[in-house]
Amino acid sequence: MSRWLSVAAAAAFMVSAGSASAIEKDAALALAKKSGCLACHSIEKKVVGPAWMDVSKKYKGDSSVKDTLVNKVKTGGKGNWTEVTGGVPMPPYSPRVSDADIETLVGFVLSLAQ
Ligand code: HEC
Repeated sequence: MSRWLSVAAAAAFMVSAGSASAIEKDAALALAKKSGCLACHSIEKKVVGPAWMDVSKKYKGDSSVKDTLVNKVKTGGKGNWTEVTGGVPMPPYSPRVSDADIETLVGFVLSLAQ
C-alpha cells in the first residue's frame, strides 16, 4: 500500500515539476521576445542564428560554457556557427539587455537539451 502511495506521490511530483518548467519556458520565451532574440532565433529551427535546441546540444555536458555564452550575448561575435549561418555575427546585447536577463536567457537556452 505504501508503495502505491509513493508511486502516486512521485507521479504528482512529476506533473507539478512539468508544469513549473512549462511556466518557466513561457517566461523565458517572453523575455527572449521582449529582448529581440526571436528575430533571429527559434527553439527548433535555424532563423538567422542557430536553433537554440542545437546550441544546447552542441554544449551539452559542458558546465563551463555558460559564462562564455553570456559574454558572447553581451559583446556579440561569430565563428561558432559559420556553417549554419554563413558567417553572420550575433549582435552585442549589453547594456540593451541587463546582465541578469542575459544570464536567464543563456541558462534557458542551455537547459533545452539537458
Ligand atoms: C541579428 C540576429 C540575432 C539576434 C537578434 C540574436 N542572435 Fe543569437 N546568434 C545570432 C547568430 C548569427 C549566431 C551565431 C554566431 C556564431 O557563428 O558564433 C548566434 C548565436 C547565439 C548563441 C550561441 C553562441 C555560440 O557561441 O555558440 C546564443 C546562446 C545566442 N545567439 C543567444 C541569443 C540571445 C539570448 C539573444 C537575445 C538577447 C540573441 N541571441 C539575439 C544571431 C542573432
